[in-house]
Amino acid sequence: MDALVVTKANKLSGKIKLKGAKNSILPIIAACVLTSDEVLIRDCPKLSDISDMLGIMQSIGAKVQVNGDDITICCRQINPHTIDRGLMSKIRSSIFILGPLLARCGEANIFMPGGCEIGKRPIDLHLDGLRKLGVVVDEECAEENCGIVCKGTPKGGIVTLKYPSVGATENLMMAGALSNGQTTIYGCAKEPEIVDLAAFLNTIGARVYGAGSNLIVIDGKRCLHGARYKPITDRIAAGTYMAAAAVSGGDIYIEGAIGDHMDATVYKFRAAGAHIIEEQRGIRVYCDNRLKAIKQTVTLPYPGFPTDMQPILVAALATAKGKSVVTETLFENRFRFAYQLERMGADIVLDGDNTAIIKGQRLHGADVYAQDLRGGAALTVAALAADGITLINGVEHIDRGYESLENELNSLGANISRINKTD
Ligand code: EPZ
Repeated sequence: MDALVVTKANKLSGKIKLKGAKNSILPIIAACVLTSDEVLIRDCPKLSDISDMLGIMQSIGAKVQVNGDDITICCRQINPHTIDRGLMSKIRSSIFILGPLLARCGEANIFMPGGCEIGKRPIDLHLDGLRKLGVVVDEECAEENCGIVCKGTPKGGIVTLKYPSVGATENLMMAGALSNGQTTIYGCAKEPEIVDLAAFLNTIGARVYGAGSNLIVIDGKRCLHGARYKPITDRIAAGTYMAAAAVSGGDIYIEGAIGDHMDATVYKFRAAGAHIIEEQRGIRVYCDNRLKAIKQTVTLPYPGFPTDMQPILVAALATAKGKSVVTETLFENRFRFAYQLERMGADIVLDGDNTAIIKGQRLHGADVYAQDLRGGAALTVAALAADGITLINGVEHIDRGYESLENELNSLGANISRINKTD
């Protein structure tokens, strides 16, 4: 198991270039099942979630080639019954394969997806939505350990999501893109990654309308074709570097950051005292004083403050002057990292299981454990501001969503090394 050894940073500075967004690329990889032509996806970071998703694609017969940051996928022959159960249960995004498999093959044998343990993460909205599109879903099999058996080609219909689930919206979009009928989804998620998936689907010949609003209509096509596609950049990675600059009193330029995708995040860091200048090709962030507390932050579906930025903002507020309150409304177990921050001297009180009361402190180095992706990123941000040296165990969690967080931060002047801990 690897660990990061982080020394307190002194005013990060310089330029960092963003790559494609993990949460765009993962559904786009799954969407390649919808065509038997070759698809090229540009600008992909080397993340373990992406390599696991590619492994799932290969387990059902896809041909995959990775050339630097470019991924080529060809789904000429697909077998919906051979999905790799181990990989499926490792990552949340494995569930995205269901809609495309049903649209392409009319059947699928899947297993419960995995992912960061930030909550129960059910898939009822995915399965109920597919049932509304004419798919027969047999979950009883799950008890007998043979997975969830789905039969039927989605034939269009109307789905009303009781919650704007990102994954369920994406699965249903893909199920509708290659079908005989029209699919209407009310109550959709509106994240930039949804808009990006719709743009990809339309690039391979689908007809998806309304992405970014709470109503998406898809006119199904019976055949889709190949394409070359460059996904949007990663707004959560951008927010992570923004926080790193803010806690270290630095001045950085995040090339490729899309301000329009980050309004809520930019608003919060400006409220905490960071200076943020949005330009055509990126965002400059600098901070010449200690951050200020932010009275109240509540995570919400887009365009609200993103849950994936919550741990990272809490880490920054743990060093700020004053008292902040942060409430998490999407996931029921997303504050575990706070106990690790307390080992670094943070003053965080959890009120119930979804509100953190943070009183900014001077942090000190400690041995801490990353337990999920964004919690690990939060510990790294906090370690940049902590006196002394911090050892962050469980780097495999961080590697799920950041190509090499230590190299990126070191390019801005941080002092982080990766060690292999044999114990
Ligand atoms: C996506 O997860 C992202 N993952 C998450 O990012 C992100 O935190 C989340 O959206 C919210 O923005 C990927 O895109 C791969 P949801 P997803 O379905 O699709 C409940 C990261 O760090 N729900 O919008 O799983 C669910 O329990 C990851 O990059 C149901 O009840 O999120 C949660 O409370 C972490 N039934 C809420 O909806 C369902 O069938 C939001 O989940 C599905 C979801």
